[in-house]
Amino acid sequence: MAKFIQTPRGTRDLVGEDAETFEYLVNEFRRIARLNGFKPIVTPTIEFFELFSRKSGEEIIRSMYVFKDKAGRLLALRPEVTASIVRAYLRNLLGEPKPILLYYVSQCFRYEEPQRGRYREFWQLGLEVIGERDRLNSDLRVVYTIYEYLESLGIGHWFVAGNVGIYRAFMDSLGISEDDQDHVLHLIDKDLVDDVREFLAKRYGVEAVEVITGLMNRGIDGLRDYVVGYKDLLGERYEAVMEYVEDTQRFITYSRELGLRIEYMPKLVRGLAYYTGLIYEVKAEGLDISIGGGGRYDNLTLVYGGSPEYMTGAALGLDRIMLVLKRGAEGSSARYRVIVILIKSDLEGYRYAYDIVKELHRYGVEAPLYTGKPSKILSLASRRGYTHAIFIGSREVVENRVTIKDLSTGEQVVIDKNRLIEYLNLPPQPFPQDPCST
Ligand code: HAM
Repeated sequence: MAKFIQTPRGTRDLVGEDAETFEYLVNEFRRIARLNGFKPIVTPTIEFFELFSRKSGEEIIRSMYVFKDKAGRLLALRPEVTASIVRAYLRNLLGEPKPILLYYVSQCFRYEEPQRGRYREFWQLGLEVIGERDRLNSDLRVVYTIYEYLESLGIGHWFVAGNVGIYRAFMDSLGISEDDQDHVLHLIDKDLVDDVREFLAKRYGVEAVEVITGLMNRGIDGLRDYVVGYKDLLGERYEAVMEYVEDTQRFITYSRELGLRIEYMPKLVRGLAYYTGLIYEVKAEGLDISIGGGGRYDNLTLVYGGSPEYMTGAALGLDRIMLVLKRGAEGSSARYRVIVILIKSDLEGYRYAYDIVKELHRYGVEAPLYTGKPSKILSLASRRGYTHAIFIGSREVVENRVTIKDLSTGEQVVIDKNRLIEYLNLPPQPFPQDPCST
């Protein structure tokens, strides 16, 4: 027997209920993002390799799909979208009034070992805020939008927060080179505490070990005193570090006030190299790995030749949300799903039936039209979860009526065509169909 072609490792088809869930999750994200003032942005799946090599960090670069096109240009499949957003902002949006609030639904690619919740092709639901001077407000709007989204899906979740700016400032003061800083942060990210000690001891001496491991074990309440204790070491960086500490404390306090569950996690550093200050990840019940992550990447514009800019954002992993979603797909947002069975399939019948279909659609009711053997269509309707069937034969057309069957009770009635909406008890005013329409 011929073997069917598989999908490449780490990729998959989404069909049936999974595809319904996927669409529902995307639509709901768009709806909530828009309610919070975010506008869509679409960027290419392929970018120049250089876009990511400049500042995304070793880990991302190692996992990228990189290739040369026919003209020998070095391209990459995007491993994430933030770098593209900065590029797109500098090219297209510099003249826009600030702040600029953007959301995206984008597939990304990382050449990683596939495992539960880790794919080589996956989807990110992202939010980015550019040019908002009130940093606290911009960070809160991002996490609040995520919170509202996950709440609407009924997903139990919490945030863990940290601040990579504090580590960087301490390491700058200790004279640790940028490459070595990236390496230390990478080791902290992987929770390799002994390796951190060994690496720092060998290259920078015991003080570096003491300062950095001390930071790794300090809770939010003791953080201020810890920084005060190193005022001399920090020198001119002292004020900036104090600001990071206060930013982090305020962000956590305010987030809690808004209803978010959030904890400070000193060892949180995140895998991307462009973060400058506050960072956080989103955790959900039933999954060890994070379902989302983000933070501040102020002035990433400088890396691409732009002027300094306030920037913050986050992305959720749609594939991971699918894994933790308890409730099944909502499928169609309509309360009723009606299958229309056309028995009189001539021009007059079609005209009559499509009048009904059009009216149902105006009320947000899914209503596809089928022709053929009614018994066969009914069994398809029950397999696909339709709530009602409408039969349209010669009699119905002549009498201006419809025969409608409630598929859960089996009750069947004949009613006037213009009473259909009333019979289904649909809201009197048609509501907008597109949840994304503004
Ligand atoms: P990230 O933490 O690398 O951040 O990715 C964000 C989310 O994408 C992760 O929390 C996870 O849910 C999902 N994700 C990442 N890799 C995979 C994978 N291999 N399979 C399935 N899901 C995955 C970023 O990418 C940043 N650009 C987020 C950001 C936006 N920061 C500021 N703005």
